[in-house]
Amino acid sequence: MTDTTQRDQASATSELLARDAAHRSGLWRPEVAYVRGDGALLFDADGGEVIDCMAGIAVASVGHANPRLARALAEQAQRLIVCPQNLGNDTRTAFVDKLFSFVQPPLNRVFLVNSGSEANEAALKWARAATGRRRFVAAKRGFSGRTLGVLPMTWEPKYREPFGPYGMDVTFVRYNDADELRAVVDESVAALLLEPVQGEGGIHPADQEYLEAARETTENAGAMLIFDEIQCGVGRTGTFLASEAYGVTPDMATLAKGLAGGVPIGALLMTDSVAATMPKGGHGSTFGGNPLASAAGLAVLEEIEERRLMAHARAMGERLMDGLRRAGGERVREVRGRGLMVGMELKEKAAPVIAALRSAGVLTIAGGATVVRFLPPLVISQAQVDEVVRRVGDVLAS
Ligand SMILES: Cc1ncc(COP(=O)(O)O)c(C=O)c1O
Repeated sequence: MTDTTQRDQASATSELLARDAAHRSGLWRPEVAYVRGDGALLFDADGGEVIDCMAGIAVASVGHANPRLARALAEQAQRLIVCPQNLGNDTRTAFVDKLFSFVQPPLNRVFLVNSGSEANEAALKWARAATGRRRFVAAKRGFSGRTLGVLPMTWEPKYREPFGPYGMDVTFVRYNDADELRAVVDESVAALLLEPVQGEGGIHPADQEYLEAARETTENAGAMLIFDEIQCGVGRTGTFLASEAYGVTPDMATLAKGLAGGVPIGALLMTDSVAATMPKGGHGSTFGGNPLASAAGLAVLEEIEERRLMAHARAMGERLMDGLRRAGGERVREVRGRGLMVGMELKEKAAPVIAALRSAGVLTIAGGATVVRFLPPLVISQAQVDEVVRRVGDVLAS
């Protein structure tokens, strides 16, 4: 590439971001614009390349520009995009069949939506329908979404408090404290909502005893147990649902993010008996289960199966965590996670390290103030994992 071409592209980037600034919401001030992807790589408008360990926050499960996903979308777009869930559709049926080859009974039913928040909102409505109760229990450090329907269940006070008070009765409990669950979950509770591995809160896997206590206390109280698998589900931790590894089955589980590889989707999985409690007309979604998202979901599940991406996520996750533990040095407090859901907790603020990592060609994201989160596409290669570790080592040594 000539100097002139590089200069032209660099000015194209600043022009793009300046134009963007005129109309964006003001929530963010991007410093880079990505224009193309390939597997676990992202390319910015200047031709710069990063290894993507963010994947749109656990979304690009089968990698950027995945050929099977792209083909499925193009073919479906030329055939049929619109067909709501009150009508049948061949692609949706194929997707749902495939989904239930990954999800085991007693989770037999699904309601399809367009995002994680919507999936959680649907779960809360179903919990109310199933129990006739109004009180919910959620975990400290938990993240359930930003819409007003689920914001009361999101722990982070700076997200939640400015928009209250809410018409919902929510009690927050300490994560991984089984005794507190036993004290709080009683017959007034409609549902306990937990992430089997907390994501936004800084990558905290549940203890075995904790999820078992969650199942036992909700069963004894006649309350619903809802697992929010929006970030940790769809194979990221090495099993399709992260909760599978614990042998604990909820009454409902929510999925979104990686389920359609980047096309908006959400899913509420339920048992037969829970599904049957919603009155006719009690819930709905215009776009939920549309053929385009279903085609994408089917392509993602086929890709996960044929390329054995869950076993790959397990192996690459172990390699990444081992590597980060070796390369991290003095500035790292702990490396933890499950599969390709990895957190590197620092003894200092994460933001400057995340910025330095981006300059070194590794895109990551914070999980709380001191945790660097690694959520790469499940297709990341061994060589790319090793390169990520090498670059993290260099940045932390500098
Ligand atoms: C565990 C969890 N639940 C819910 C959500 C909300 O999903 P969405 O942003 O698709 O509404 C997120 C998003 O980060 C999440 O990580």
